[in-house]
Amino acid sequence: MKFFIDTADIKEIKDLAATGMVDGVTTNPSLAAKSGKKFLDLIAEICAVVPGPVSAEVTALDYDTMMKEAAVLKKIAKNVTIKVPLTPEGLKCCKSLSDDGTMVNVTLCFSPAQALLAAKAGASFISPFVGRLDDIGTDGMALISDICQIYKNYSFKTEVLVASIRHPMHIVAAAKMGAHVSTMPPSTLRQLFNHPLTDKGLKAFLEDWAKTGQSIL
Ligand code: E4P
Repeated sequence: MKFFIDTADIKEIKDLAATGMVDGVTTNPSLAAKSGKKFLDLIAEICAVVPGPVSAEVTALDYDTMMKEAAVLKKIAKNVTIKVPLTPEGLKCCKSLSDDGTMVNVTLCFSPAQALLAAKAGASFISPFVGRLDDIGTDGMALISDICQIYKNYSFKTEVLVASIRHPMHIVAAAKMGAHVSTMPPSTLRQLFNHPLTDKGLKAFLEDWAKTGQSIL
């Protein structure tokens, strides 16, 4: 499973990229706004740190303007992935860009039917938002299971990019279902490393080692 981080915080991106666990980055207009940076500069900065796919979202609602925005974003770097909303105009844009060999991430997916449309439009990634479904009392992970099954049935090449992740168990469940990518907040990626028994075990090992009075170096 690939790990993307869902942030526009360049410091966090640099810190986590150094762990070797970051295969890509997803941003959205809210995250970009929070960064306080000029959007095009921000995407260029992220692309210079992470060589994998970096999602940059268009903000227009109509096909023509979306295509113009995508043309500007694509020029920033080779690894820019154009993010479009799951709307009829967004999917039309997805089809044109994908036919042209551009990576497209279709975002704001909340149903298996929508995911089917995105795959038919040639999306490189579909982003189902599990946390936001959980938030309204719906089973977000059931959506991932449905999409994985549907894509498998028809051998679609679109990768399932599990988004709106809230905790490590979303990632574990997604991995068990065979989803291709999880995009997570930096704090969630950090949580994956932790286990109290690891800390406890390491403490005991080092205490015993100290008793020997030895040093490896
Ligand atoms: C995905 O690309 C989105 O940016 C993100 O996962 C949304 O997450 P949220 O529901 O925590 O805002």
